[in-house]
Order: sequence, then structure tokens, then C-alpha cells
Amino acid sequence: MTEYQVIIDGCKNLKGGIIEAFHALQDKYNYIPAEALREAARQFGVSEAEAYGVATFYSYLAVEKRGRYVIRMCESAPCHVAGADELLKEIETALGIKTGETTADGKFTLELAQCVGQCQATPVITINSQPYFNVTKEKLKEILADCK
Ligand code: FES
Repeated sequence: MTEYQVIIDGCKNLKGGIIEAFHALQDKYNYIPAEALREAARQFGVSEAEAYGVATFYSYLAVEKRGRYVIRMCESAPCHVAGADELLKEIETALGIKTGETTADGKFTLELAQCVGQCQATPVITINSQPYFNVTKEKLKEILADCK
């Protein structure tokens, strides 16, 4: 069995199986690779178009290749007021990409997020779902340097 098959197979008996499989794939690869999506369609007995429809329906699932580290800048009002725009520009400059893009080496993807429920410590970014609080330009450098 391929790695994709093992992951998908592990979700076959779960309630909401194909969505659970997509979650598990995304946890592992940060997105749902096309080949894995085809495999999920096959194992769950739906057409590839249906599987693609499910994967693209949920905004938190991604079918485009993403980096090993997915950085998401919270853009909701409290973070916005705390300087999310400037911080976002800092991140773009540091990584050499625009929001929505992935670095050429496949290391970082930069995206926007809605409030992640940590408004007491704005501005907030998340990296692979781990939140970082009160992020300043200086802190950002350290955070990025820690992403090996
Ligand atoms: S607005 Fe950014 S964490 Fe709530």
C-alpha cells in the first residue's frame, strides 16, 4: 500500500469518512495531493469530480501544493487594528512571496485567516495551526528562523 492508501484506509470506517481522510492527508502534507484525492475517490466509491467538490467546498482544505510551513496571518478586526497589515508586508518581504503563494523551495506558504480566537494577544499568526501571539517585526525574525 502507498502512504496515501494507508492514510485513507485508516479513515474508511469513520463517520464522515472522506472528509476525515482529507483532514488526515492535509495534516500530513499540508494539502491534499492530486494523486491522494484520486485514491480517496476510488476507496470511497465516488467520482473524482465529487471528491474534488468535497475537498474544495471547505475553505480549510487545500488542493494546491503548500509549503512545509503554512503561515496564516489573522486579518480580523482586532488583529487588523494591532497592525496585521504591516506585519503581513513584513512576512511577504521576508519570504519574497505574496499572500497566497508558496516559496520556490516549498518551505513556506502564506495565507490569511479569520479570527483564531486569541484576540487578547494581537496580532496573531499561526504556523501549521500553532498560534504565535503579540507578533512584532523582531519576534517574526526569530519565529521564521526557528522554521528549519
Ligand atoms: S482577531 Fe486575530 S485572533 Fe482574534
